[in-house]
Amino acid sequence: MAASETGLRLPLGSLSPSSHLSSSFLTSTPLLSFKPSSSRKRSGLKCTNSIARGNSFHSPSNFVFKKLQSTRCRCQRNDVEEKNIRSSTLLPSDGLKSDLDEMPLPVNGSLSSNGNVQSATGTNSIEDEAWDLLRQSIVYYCGSPIGTIAANDPNSTSVLNYDQVFIRDFIPSGIAFLLKGEYDIVRDFILYTLQLQSWEKTMDCHSPGQGLMPASFKVKTVPLDGDDSMTEEVLDPDFGEAAIGRVAPVDSGLWWIILLRAYGKCTGDVSVQERVDVQTGIKMILKLCLADGFDMFPTLLVTDGSCMIDRRMGIHGHPLEIQALFYSALVCAREMLTPEDGSADLIRALNNRLVALSFHIREYYWLDMKKINEIYRYQTEEYSYDAVNKFNIYPDQIPSWLVDFMPNRGGYLIGNLQPAHMDFRFFSLGNLWSIVSSLATNDQSHAILDLVEAKWAELVADMPFKICYPAMEGEEWRIITGSDPKNTPWSYHNGGSWPTLLWQLTVASIKMGRPEIAEKAVELAERRIAIDKWPEYYDTKRARFIGKQARLYQTWSIAGYLVAKLLLANPSAAKFLTSEEDSDLRNAFSCMISANPRRTRGRKKTQQPFIV
Ligand code: GLC
Repeated sequence: MAASETGLRLPLGSLSPSSHLSSSFLTSTPLLSFKPSSSRKRSGLKCTNSIARGNSFHSPSNFVFKKLQSTRCRCQRNDVEEKNIRSSTLLPSDGLKSDLDEMPLPVNGSLSSNGNVQSATGTNSIEDEAWDLLRQSIVYYCGSPIGTIAANDPNSTSVLNYDQVFIRDFIPSGIAFLLKGEYDIVRDFILYTLQLQSWEKTMDCHSPGQGLMPASFKVKTVPLDGDDSMTEEVLDPDFGEAAIGRVAPVDSGLWWIILLRAYGKCTGDVSVQERVDVQTGIKMILKLCLADGFDMFPTLLVTDGSCMIDRRMGIHGHPLEIQALFYSALVCAREMLTPEDGSADLIRALNNRLVALSFHIREYYWLDMKKINEIYRYQTEEYSYDAVNKFNIYPDQIPSWLVDFMPNRGGYLIGNLQPAHMDFRFFSLGNLWSIVSSLATNDQSHAILDLVEAKWAELVADMPFKICYPAMEGEEWRIITGSDPKNTPWSYHNGGSWPTLLWQLTVASIKMGRPEIAEKAVELAERRIAIDKWPEYYDTKRARFIGKQARLYQTWSIAGYLVAKLLLANPSAAKFLTSEEDSDLRNAFSCMISANPRRTRGRKKTQQPFIV
């Protein structure tokens, strides 16, 4: 990734040790005025001393970033020998009181927000070890903890971008910190990544849509312009323009909204979500997702590799994971948006999309024995408004593995739906998050968990949880992955097992009143995960090997385990993450069901308008 060259900049000058960076900037009034210009391109977020005054304002056409006036700090980073003396920092906020001011400076990545310095030694349980490792993965920006590194594997020869803070990877870290009562790192993560949202990045002269959140960012220490003896810290985001395969991270903004809502619910502090810049950030993400396009479907149309599976895996189009996160983010945003004059249209569009999206997924993505049999007997080439086989699915598409995989009791949401194509693979994250967000109905949610129990040997086996089932092999693998040597059958994204998925499994099973499913999975994970050094993923059908190219000490494996443990110990906290279907949605959904030709064929149809 190219080093940042220009941007918002904070010189690191001589400082008073007592005035280290603190979140007091969040209440400060001086502001840094910043407008986009061509020089912003290719730039990272930097701290500068330039000062302006004004209101926090954040819109596609005019960006003003708030900043504390010359707050100064002496930073000490966990991974550098040299102790840079730095002045502080850009800052994203107003209206927040923080206790960071009173905290000691972080040393060796082990600061907790209550000021305790955790010991890296003397661990007495897997959980203690996990906490130590999680704290060691914390990344600091001008002295503030703002995220966690993707992997902290000391023996890895090629770091690639695993030394960055990934938005999606930080979600379980953030939730673990929230559940532990350590809120500051989550708030700062939310606010700093918000600042990166609007950053203009280009790939070959093309910029992604405003509102896109980066996949990851890195804190870089670079020489100070005009003074080589000094350094400054820079936040450098990657929107996919440096990522392998140049994949756009569609899930980042959706996860950001979900974490923001969890932060408010867990802390009771809604002042962050109510901030003008945060409200604008939410709206920018929504506008990007709700923008009109060529689609006939209410699902979000994306390219391959736009989510956790960030490589070519045949998930372009309307993959379930993105739809579940999209639905979840819409529900969370609806809860957080403050009503104001200009937002009525957006809220109306959001509500309409929620109804259409849930109908589409529940009706057309759902698969169980009954539905397979229906597809098996489909008529094709039905040109009409009341076609049953709307997407013209040819029954020959039903793969042979599916007949064995589908239990008599249970079902799941398929991976993707396109004209004449159903991707019958089971994708875990999409199914689990459909339960968590109530995108799936109550019956469907139970049926998904029934399937998990019935197919334990396939989906969990020796290590939870298969990212997808089954793997693509042979010619299919060659064509669909492009002969990707990392995604060979039963490895990595192609049927590998990812311990991080434990946390989503836990939230889903607690929501459905079936925590014993997660307990059993956690127990299994505990047999190996710490001994194996917290791998990123496992290989083989039964997850028996540590993944071929898996990183060790992968942060979201560690954090996923911690979230699962914390939630099982305190199941009511799962409410910070779950959403229940409200009566408006339920009513609108019933209207659509009764108007659906598939259900009413042969009966007189009544077309019912439904505007929520
Ligand atoms: C892999 C995963 C991706 C994750 C990244 C960093 O590329 O597929 O989901 O964010 O590693 O851990």
